Amino acid sequence: MIQLEKEFHLETHIAGRSPATCHWKCGDACAQPILNQSENQYVRSVVEEALSRRSFMAASMGGLLMLSGLSSLAKAQGGSSLGFKPIGLSTEDKLLVPEGYTTNVVIRWGDPIGRGAKRFDVNNWDARSQENAFGYNVDYISWLPLPDYASSNSRRAILWANHEYTNPELMFPGYKQGSPTKEQVDIELAAHGGSAVEVRRNADGSIYYVPVSSYNRRITATTPMELTGPAAGHPLLQTKADPTGKRVLGMLNNCAGGTTPWGTILTAEENFNQYFAGNNALPDGPIKRSHARYGLPGGNSSRRWELFYERFDLTKEPNEPFRHGWIVEIDPYDPTSTPKKRTALGRFKHEGAETTVAPSGQVVLYMGDDERFDYLYKFVTKGRFNPTDRKANLNLLDEGTLYVAKFNADGTGVWLPLVQGNGPLTAANGFSSQADVLINTRLAADLLGATKMDRPEDVERNPVTGAVYAVMTNNNRRTAAQVDAANPRPDNRHGHIIEMLEAGNDPTATTFRWALFLVAGEPSDPTTYFAGFPKDKVSTVSCPDNITFDQAGNMWIATDGQDSSLKKNDAVYAVPTQGPERGYVRQFMSAPVGAEICGPIFTPDNKNFFAGIQHPGEGGTLEKPVSTWPDGTNVPRPSVVAVRKLDGGIIGG
Ligand code: FEO
Ligand code: CA
Ligand code: CA
Repeated sequence: MIQLEKEFHLETHIAGRSPATCHWKCGDACAQPILNQSENQYVRSVVEEALSRRSFMAASMGGLLMLSGLSSLAKAQGGSSLGFKPIGLSTEDKLLVPEGYTTNVVIRWGDPIGRGAKRFDVNNWDARSQENAFGYNVDYISWLPLPDYASSNSRRAILWANHEYTNPELMFPGYKQGSPTKEQVDIELAAHGGSAVEVRRNADGSIYYVPVSSYNRRITATTPMELTGPAAGHPLLQTKADPTGKRVLGMLNNCAGGTTPWGTILTAEENFNQYFAGNNALPDGPIKRSHARYGLPGGNSSRRWELFYERFDLTKEPNEPFRHGWIVEIDPYDPTSTPKKRTALGRFKHEGAETTVAPSGQVVLYMGDDERFDYLYKFVTKGRFNPTDRKANLNLLDEGTLYVAKFNADGTGVWLPLVQGNGPLTAANGFSSQADVLINTRLAADLLGATKMDRPEDVERNPVTGAVYAVMTNNNRRTAAQVDAANPRPDNRHGHIIEMLEAGNDPTATTFRWALFLVAGEPSDPTTYFAGFPKDKVSTVSCPDNITFDQAGNMWIATDGQDSSLKKNDAVYAVPTQGPERGYVRQFMSAPVGAEICGPIFTPDNKNFFAGIQHPGEGGTLEKPVSTWPDGTNVPRPSVVAVRKLDGGIIGG
């Protein structure tokens, strides 16, 4: 552990995640100085209101739906449909679910999904095999029904999974941090990205994957991709290898994502900064300043890919990072399609990109920038979704308006347009074109005075009620002087969830109302809040990260960081958002040791629930494993699992 402490900068690590997670997943972001040094004001005076003004909570307790005149909708939906007996927090190295439920591993790191992969063997693995096998850490998951998206088939689909990052200490026997071999680096490049695999449901309700299918595809950190939209071709996107500024190799650190109404995947490049080395060596100027605002390392990167590939060395290729940090759209129904980085959606540490269709037919995406004190965004397309012509939608995301959120202390909020020429977004401030705004989205949002949030992660609209939920994982750097109404706790190590209702329940609106929905932690902690539900009945929950909704509109929450914040394994919870059990948080799943749970989703019929078991065994090494999940061996393997009810019923019911 002493060695681990040194390697993973444990001395500077701050609670919220395990040191190994911080190191490999976020590039030790939590040990860095706060990147957002803009002078956006905190709304200090409202902390008491947010945490102790009971009328504010009362508004939340009744729900924004009531406030907005949608109370009939809330009542019509009645109570929750949740009937399972909650499990408790655990430190067991097992995947636990409630009585009456069971799980099966669908696919795990190294399982072949194309021709050309040898049988997985951690002692005998190579880049070519990895390119044809399921990648490492699984984050976002999507169910894309076959034969087409409109079929809503729950028995056969393309399963998409993001492969966010690699844990080389759990992939390579005897891995030496700081001096990887080229073969190890090539395996890591091939283990990033994502996988599309055909899956089917067995008669017993379990899910299996089809090793050889025309739909199976690996996307990696070297797959050719196209940059599209207003920033494509901009000089900052041009490199020696790509003078056009429109072709880029691969995607990095794809965390959560979204699925469009036309059945494409949106996958979010998050902590892309950590892969690039040498910002200190760049001359002072706008490029260096931008890289610093995005947290690029001054010296070496942790994985040292720059030793073998100069595009990761800023002294040789200062623009390559501008080609990462985007939302990537992939069409899994066309395995020959070129993934598209949609620059209109802005560049930041993208966490997710969930979509909804407005009454006008415009498509709206909600997106978080997962960094302490960074922002919440949405994008509204200019064009309209065409439900009868799939092809007509395939470039919808290249034109539209990007907004950033400002939360007011009175429970109102406004979406500020990130449009060149708007307010301070002028040439004098470094924004000569919309491309400048999109490439340096964080800097533009700083100037607009957006609200600094506690690590915005998944943001998703409840398909039943229309309310939007924004998940803040944690922020233990917020001081008492820095709290505001929407981020009301100093040292917020357990996180919270904000409920938002767009004006007129129209997602294209530029104003909204908001209230706190959950303030997480141990219920005995007086700063916690569970939408007003009695605290003696709810499960302890910390570090909410990714969410999804079942067909009844209940929220399902996956956590990231309970191992550090509670010294317990990460978990999944279900909570009604309306009716008499609104706020009744119940634990549904517990992860094996070291793992985070990601990508919660359901089949359309809600009879299977999927989760990504990401980085099982993190904190150990192959030589000193702390988890043997899922195979009972010394090689923990990130996997997708499917949950089903033993009686074949609806999950949660
Ligand atoms: Fe990849 Fe924001 O977690
Ligand atoms: Ca996440
Ligand atoms: Ca989600």
